Amino acid sequence: MVAAELAALRDYRERTERQMEELFNTITAFAALDYDRRALVHDDNDELINAMAIGLNMMGEELSHTMKALVGARDEALAASRAKSAFLANISHELRTPLNAIIGYAEIIREDLVDAGQDALTVDVDRLQIASRHLLNLIQDVLDLARIEAGRVDVRLEQIDLRTLLQELQTTLAPSVKEAGNVLHARVELGRPQVLTDPLRLQQILLNILGNANKFTVGGDITLSACDHVEHGRAFVDITVADTGIGIPADKLETIFDAFTQVDDTATRRFGGTGLGLAISRRLCDLLGGSIVVSSELRRGSTFRVRLPVDGPPRG
Ligand SMILES: Nc1ncnc2c1ncn2[C@@H]1O[C@H](COP(=O)(O)OP(=O)(O)OP(=O)(O)O)[C@@H](O)[C@H]1O
Ligand SMILES: [Mg+2]
Repeated sequence: MVAAELAALRDYRERTERQMEELFNTITAFAALDYDRRALVHDDNDELINAMAIGLNMMGEELSHTMKALVGARDEALAASRAKSAFLANISHELRTPLNAIIGYAEIIREDLVDAGQDALTVDVDRLQIASRHLLNLIQDVLDLARIEAGRVDVRLEQIDLRTLLQELQTTLAPSVKEAGNVLHARVELGRPQVLTDPLRLQQILLNILGNANKFTVGGDITLSACDHVEHGRAFVDITVADTGIGIPADKLETIFDAFTQVDDTATRRFGGTGLGLAISRRLCDLLGGSIVVSSELRRGSTFRVRLPVDGPPRG
Protein backbone atom coordinates (compact mmCIF):
# COMPACT_ATOMS: atom_id res chain seq x y z
CA MET A 1 0.00 0.00 0.00
CA VAL A 2 2.81 2.39 0.93
CA ALA A 3 4.75 1.38 -2.18
CA ALA A 4 1.71 2.12 -4.40
CA GLU A 5 1.25 5.53 -2.76
CA LEU A 6 4.91 6.34 -3.21
CA ALA A 7 4.78 5.29 -6.88
CA ALA A 8 1.76 7.58 -7.39
CA LEU A 9 3.61 10.38 -5.64
CA ARG A 10 6.63 9.92 -7.92
CA ASP A 11 4.35 9.89 -10.95
CA TYR A 12 2.76 13.19 -9.91
CA ARG A 13 6.14 14.72 -9.27
CA GLU A 14 7.41 13.73 -12.71
CA ARG A 15 4.28 15.11 -14.37
CA THR A 16 4.59 18.38 -12.47
CA GLU A 17 8.23 18.68 -13.39
CA ARG A 18 7.42 18.10 -17.07
CA GLN A 19 4.70 20.75 -16.99
CA MET A 20 6.96 23.22 -15.19
CA GLU A 21 9.57 22.64 -17.86
CA GLU A 22 7.07 23.23 -20.69
CA LEU A 23 5.90 26.41 -19.01
CA PHE A 24 9.46 27.56 -18.54
CA ASN A 25 10.30 26.81 -22.19
CA THR A 26 7.30 28.80 -23.42
CA ILE A 27 8.22 31.77 -21.28
CA THR A 28 11.90 31.72 -22.25
CA ALA A 29 11.00 31.28 -25.94
CA PHE A 30 8.77 34.33 -25.72
CA ALA A 31 11.39 36.34 -23.85
CA ALA A 32 13.97 35.37 -26.45
CA LEU A 33 11.99 37.01 -29.29
CA ASP A 34 13.80 40.18 -30.20
CA TYR A 35 12.28 43.48 -29.22
CA ASP A 36 11.06 44.38 -32.72
CA ARG A 37 9.28 41.13 -33.16
CA ARG A 38 7.72 41.41 -29.75
CA ALA A 39 6.59 44.89 -30.62
CA LEU A 40 5.29 43.52 -33.89
CA VAL A 41 3.52 40.75 -32.12
CA HIS A 42 2.15 43.24 -29.66
CA ASP A 43 0.99 45.66 -32.28
CA ASP A 44 -0.20 43.38 -34.99
CA ASN A 45 -0.98 40.08 -33.48
CA ASP A 46 -3.04 40.36 -30.34
CA GLU A 47 -4.50 36.99 -31.16
CA LEU A 48 -1.16 35.28 -30.62
CA ILE A 49 -0.74 36.94 -27.24
CA ASN A 50 -4.29 36.04 -26.26
CA ALA A 51 -3.74 32.45 -27.27
CA MET A 52 -0.56 32.36 -25.23
CA ALA A 53 -2.27 33.89 -22.21
CA ILE A 54 -5.05 31.29 -22.46
CA GLY A 55 -2.43 28.57 -22.78
CA LEU A 56 -0.60 29.88 -19.72
CA ASN A 57 -3.84 30.05 -17.76
CA MET A 58 -4.69 26.48 -18.64
CA MET A 59 -1.26 25.37 -17.62
CA GLY A 60 -1.60 27.26 -14.35
CA GLU A 61 -4.90 25.53 -13.64
CA GLU A 62 -3.49 22.15 -14.52
CA LEU A 63 -0.54 22.87 -12.25
CA SER A 64 -2.70 23.83 -9.31
CA HIS A 65 -4.73 20.63 -9.94
CA THR A 66 -1.56 18.60 -9.89
CA MET A 67 -0.35 20.32 -6.74
CA LYS A 68 -3.63 19.49 -4.98
CA ALA A 69 -3.38 15.86 -6.11
CA LEU A 70 0.23 15.83 -4.94
CA VAL A 71 -0.66 17.10 -1.48
CA GLY A 72 -3.50 14.55 -1.29
CA ALA A 73 -1.17 11.72 -2.33
CA ARG A 74 1.39 12.83 0.25
CA ASP A 75 -1.22 12.87 3.02
CA GLU A 76 -2.41 9.41 1.99
CA ALA A 77 1.16 8.11 1.94
CA LEU A 78 1.74 9.53 5.43
CA ALA A 79 -1.48 7.94 6.68
CA ALA A 80 -0.45 4.61 5.12
CA SER A 81 2.95 4.88 6.78
CA ARG A 82 1.32 5.53 10.14
CA ALA A 83 -1.01 2.57 9.57
CA LYS A 84 2.03 0.40 8.79
CA SER A 85 3.73 1.48 12.03
CA ALA A 86 0.57 0.86 14.07
CA PHE A 87 0.23 -2.58 12.47
CA LEU A 88 3.86 -3.40 13.27
CA ALA A 89 3.46 -2.25 16.85
CA ASN A 90 0.45 -4.55 17.30
CA ILE A 91 1.85 -7.59 15.52
CA SER A 92 5.16 -7.37 17.43
CA HIS A 93 3.23 -7.49 20.66
CA GLU A 94 1.34 -10.60 19.50
CA LEU A 95 4.63 -12.29 18.56
CA ARG A 96 6.25 -11.67 21.91
CA THR A 97 3.66 -13.54 23.98
CA PRO A 98 4.17 -17.02 22.42
CA LEU A 99 7.90 -16.45 22.24
CA ASN A 100 8.03 -15.81 25.96
CA ALA A 101 6.14 -19.08 26.45
CA ILE A 102 8.78 -20.92 24.36
CA ILE A 103 11.58 -19.42 26.44
CA GLY A 104 9.77 -20.26 29.69
CA TYR A 105 9.08 -23.89 28.69
CA ALA A 106 12.65 -24.35 27.42
CA GLU A 107 13.82 -23.31 30.88
CA ILE A 108 11.53 -25.90 32.49
CA ILE A 109 12.74 -28.62 30.08
CA ARG A 110 16.32 -27.67 30.88
CA GLU A 111 15.74 -28.01 34.62
CA ASP A 112 13.99 -31.38 34.11
CA LEU A 113 16.91 -32.65 32.04
CA VAL A 114 19.40 -31.62 34.70
CA ASP A 115 17.27 -33.30 37.39
CA ALA A 116 17.13 -36.49 35.30
CA GLY A 117 20.90 -36.48 34.95
CA GLN A 118 20.66 -35.85 31.18
CA ASP A 119 23.02 -32.89 31.20
CA ALA A 120 24.37 -33.69 27.74
CA LEU A 121 20.97 -32.89 26.22
CA THR A 122 20.85 -29.38 27.66
CA VAL A 123 23.10 -28.07 24.87
CA ASP A 124 20.24 -28.17 22.37
CA VAL A 125 17.84 -26.55 24.80
CA ASP A 126 20.43 -23.82 25.40
CA ARG A 127 20.59 -23.20 21.64
CA LEU A 128 16.81 -22.99 21.56
CA GLN A 129 16.87 -20.43 24.34
CA ILE A 130 19.64 -18.33 22.78
CA ALA A 131 17.83 -18.23 19.43
CA SER A 132 14.51 -17.37 21.09
CA ARG A 133 16.09 -14.57 23.15
CA HIS A 134 17.72 -13.20 20.02
CA LEU A 135 14.37 -13.21 18.22
CA LEU A 136 12.74 -11.57 21.23
CA ASN A 137 15.33 -8.75 21.19
CA LEU A 138 14.81 -8.29 17.49
CA ILE A 139 11.03 -8.07 17.92
CA GLN A 140 11.53 -5.63 20.78
CA ASP A 141 13.68 -3.40 18.52
CA VAL A 142 11.19 -3.54 15.64
CA LEU A 143 8.42 -2.73 18.10
CA ASP A 144 10.38 0.21 19.48
CA LEU A 145 11.12 1.65 16.07
CA ALA A 146 7.49 1.21 14.96
CA ARG A 147 6.25 2.88 18.15
CA ILE A 148 8.63 5.82 17.72
CA GLU A 149 7.65 6.24 14.07
CA ALA A 150 3.96 6.05 14.92
CA GLY A 151 4.56 8.79 17.53
CA ARG A 152 3.49 6.40 20.28
CA VAL A 153 6.47 6.58 22.61
CA ASP A 154 5.89 8.24 25.94
CA VAL A 155 8.85 9.98 27.43
CA ARG A 156 8.68 9.71 31.23
CA LEU A 157 10.76 12.52 32.59
CA GLU A 158 12.35 12.17 35.99
CA GLN A 159 15.04 14.04 37.85
CA ILE A 160 17.87 11.50 37.87
CA ASP A 161 21.39 11.31 39.19
CA LEU A 162 23.43 10.71 36.05
CA ARG A 163 26.42 9.50 38.04
CA THR A 164 24.39 6.64 39.53
CA LEU A 165 22.92 5.72 36.15
CA LEU A 166 26.39 5.54 34.59
CA GLN A 167 27.70 3.44 37.47
CA GLU A 168 24.82 0.98 37.06
CA LEU A 169 25.53 0.71 33.36
CA GLN A 170 29.16 -0.15 34.04
CA THR A 171 28.09 -2.91 36.43
CA THR A 172 25.61 -4.31 33.87
CA LEU A 173 28.22 -4.38 31.14
CA ALA A 174 31.16 -5.62 33.19
CA PRO A 175 30.78 -9.35 32.31
CA SER A 176 30.55 -8.84 28.53
CA VAL A 177 33.39 -6.27 28.57
CA LYS A 178 35.57 -8.80 30.37
CA GLU A 179 34.57 -11.55 27.97
CA ALA A 180 35.70 -9.43 25.00
CA GLY A 181 39.04 -8.78 26.71
CA ASN A 182 38.32 -5.05 26.91
CA VAL A 183 38.78 -2.60 29.75
CA LEU A 184 36.07 -0.08 30.57
CA HIS A 185 37.25 3.26 32.00
CA ALA A 186 34.97 5.93 33.40
CA ARG A 187 35.60 9.66 33.59
CA VAL A 188 32.66 11.45 35.09
CA GLU A 189 33.27 15.15 35.66
CA LEU A 190 29.91 16.70 36.33
CA GLY A 191 29.38 19.88 38.31
CA ARG A 192 25.82 18.87 39.09
CA PRO A 193 24.83 15.28 38.23
CA GLN A 194 21.05 15.96 38.23
CA VAL A 195 19.38 15.66 34.82
CA LEU A 196 15.69 15.78 33.92
CA THR A 197 15.28 12.92 31.46
CA ASP A 198 13.73 9.48 30.84
CA PRO A 199 16.13 7.09 32.62
CA LEU A 200 14.94 3.94 30.80
CA ARG A 201 15.32 5.52 27.38
CA LEU A 202 18.70 6.98 28.28
CA GLN A 203 19.82 3.56 29.48
CA GLN A 204 18.63 2.03 26.22
CA ILE A 205 20.65 4.56 24.20
CA LEU A 206 23.82 4.14 26.25
CA LEU A 207 23.54 0.34 26.42
CA ASN A 208 23.48 0.22 22.64
CA ILE A 209 26.43 2.56 22.20
CA LEU A 210 28.48 0.85 24.91
CA GLY A 211 27.40 -2.55 23.55
CA ASN A 212 28.57 -1.50 20.07
CA ALA A 213 31.89 -0.22 21.43
CA ASN A 214 32.42 -3.58 23.12
CA LYS A 215 31.27 -5.55 20.07
CA PHE A 216 33.59 -3.76 17.65
CA THR A 217 36.64 -3.68 19.94
CA VAL A 218 38.67 -6.71 20.93
CA GLY A 219 41.29 -6.46 23.64
CA GLY A 220 41.09 -2.68 23.70
CA ASP A 221 39.87 0.25 25.78
CA ILE A 222 36.41 1.71 26.12
CA THR A 223 36.09 5.05 27.86
CA LEU A 224 32.80 6.34 29.17
CA SER A 225 32.96 10.05 30.00
CA ALA A 226 30.46 12.66 31.11
CA CYS A 227 30.96 16.40 31.39
CA ASP A 228 28.97 19.64 31.42
CA HIS A 229 28.43 21.69 28.30
CA VAL A 230 26.81 25.09 27.83
CA GLU A 231 25.41 26.22 24.50
CA HIS A 232 23.51 29.48 23.89
CA GLY A 233 23.12 29.83 27.66
CA ARG A 234 21.51 26.37 28.00
CA ALA A 235 23.01 23.65 30.15
CA PHE A 236 23.68 20.23 28.64
CA VAL A 237 25.53 17.07 29.61
CA ASP A 238 27.80 15.34 27.13
CA ILE A 239 28.10 11.59 27.54
CA THR A 240 30.86 10.16 25.39
CA VAL A 241 31.76 6.57 24.59
CA ALA A 242 35.16 6.18 22.96
CA ASP A 243 36.67 2.89 21.86
CA THR A 244 39.92 1.68 20.32
CA GLY A 245 38.17 -0.76 17.98
CA ILE A 246 37.83 -1.32 14.23
CA GLY A 247 36.54 2.18 13.42
CA ILE A 248 33.98 3.23 10.82
CA PRO A 249 34.74 4.32 7.23
CA ALA A 250 34.08 8.03 6.63
CA ASP A 251 31.37 7.35 4.01
CA LYS A 252 29.38 5.24 6.51
CA LEU A 253 29.37 7.71 9.39
CA GLU A 254 25.85 8.92 8.66
CA THR A 255 24.25 5.79 7.16
CA ILE A 256 24.89 3.74 10.32
CA PHE A 257 22.07 5.75 11.90
CA ASP A 258 19.60 4.40 9.30
CA ALA A 259 17.49 1.39 10.25
CA PHE A 260 18.90 -2.01 9.24
CA THR A 261 22.19 -0.46 8.12
CA GLN A 262 25.55 -1.94 9.08
CA VAL A 263 29.04 -1.22 7.79
CA ASP A 264 29.58 -4.87 6.95
CA ASP A 265 26.38 -6.20 5.40
CA THR A 266 27.86 -9.34 3.85
CA ALA A 267 26.36 -12.71 4.71
CA THR A 268 29.68 -13.74 6.25
CA ARG A 269 30.03 -10.75 8.57
CA ARG A 270 31.66 -11.41 11.90
CA PHE A 271 29.42 -9.42 14.19
CA GLY A 272 25.86 -10.12 15.28
CA GLY A 273 23.05 -7.59 15.38
CA THR A 274 20.37 -6.21 13.15
CA GLY A 275 21.39 -2.63 12.56
CA LEU A 276 18.50 -1.13 14.51
CA GLY A 277 20.34 0.04 17.64
CA LEU A 278 21.64 3.36 16.36
CA ALA A 279 18.46 4.16 14.41
CA ILE A 280 16.50 3.76 17.65
CA SER A 281 19.15 5.60 19.71
CA ARG A 282 19.11 8.64 17.42
CA ARG A 283 15.32 8.86 17.46
CA LEU A 284 15.26 8.49 21.24
CA CYS A 285 17.90 11.22 21.61
CA ASP A 286 15.66 13.48 19.52
CA LEU A 287 12.72 12.70 21.80
CA LEU A 288 14.84 13.58 24.83
CA GLY A 289 15.67 16.93 23.24
CA GLY A 290 19.27 15.90 22.57
CA SER A 291 21.50 14.66 19.81
CA ILE A 292 23.95 11.91 18.99
CA VAL A 293 27.01 12.29 16.79
CA VAL A 294 29.98 10.13 15.86
CA SER A 295 33.56 10.60 14.80
CA SER A 296 35.83 7.75 13.88
CA GLU A 297 39.10 6.70 12.37
CA LEU A 298 39.39 3.36 10.61
CA ARG A 299 41.32 0.77 12.65
CA ARG A 300 41.86 3.39 15.38
CA GLY A 301 38.49 3.59 17.03
CA SER A 302 35.20 5.47 17.27
CA THR A 303 33.68 8.07 19.55
CA PHE A 304 29.95 8.52 20.01
CA ARG A 305 28.68 11.60 21.85
CA VAL A 306 25.20 11.94 23.30
CA ARG A 307 24.27 15.50 24.28
CA LEU A 308 21.22 15.99 26.51
CA PRO A 309 19.63 19.14 27.92
CA VAL A 310 19.94 19.15 31.72
CA ASP A 311 16.39 20.51 32.14
CA GLY A 312 14.67 18.05 29.77
CA PRO A 313 13.36 18.40 26.24
CA PRO A 314 11.76 21.73 25.31
CA ARG A 315 8.08 21.71 26.28
CA GLY A 316 5.13 22.22 23.93
N1 LIG B 1 31.78 1.51 18.07
C1 LIG B 1 31.69 1.08 16.80
N2 LIG B 1 32.79 0.70 16.11
C2 LIG B 1 32.70 0.27 14.82
N3 LIG B 1 31.55 0.20 14.12
C3 LIG B 1 30.42 0.57 14.76
C4 LIG B 1 30.42 1.03 16.11
N4 LIG B 1 29.16 1.34 16.46
C5 LIG B 1 28.40 1.07 15.37
N5 LIG B 1 29.13 0.61 14.35
C6 LIG B 1 28.66 0.25 12.99
O1 LIG B 1 27.34 0.74 12.86
C7 LIG B 1 26.45 -0.33 12.56
C8 LIG B 1 25.07 -0.02 13.10
O2 LIG B 1 25.07 -0.06 14.52
P1 LIG B 1 23.70 -0.43 15.25
O3 LIG B 1 23.90 -0.35 16.72
O4 LIG B 1 22.63 0.39 14.64
O5 LIG B 1 23.43 -1.93 14.78
P2 LIG B 1 24.08 -3.30 15.26
O6 LIG B 1 24.87 -3.10 16.51
O7 LIG B 1 24.76 -3.91 14.09
O8 LIG B 1 22.77 -4.16 15.57
P3 LIG B 1 21.77 -3.96 16.81
O9 LIG B 1 22.19 -2.73 17.56
O10 LIG B 1 20.43 -3.82 16.15
O11 LIG B 1 21.92 -5.21 17.60
C9 LIG B 1 27.12 -1.56 13.12
O12 LIG B 1 26.68 -2.75 12.52
C10 LIG B 1 28.58 -1.26 12.81
O13 LIG B 1 28.86 -1.56 11.46
MG1 LIG C 1 24.06 -2.01 18.18
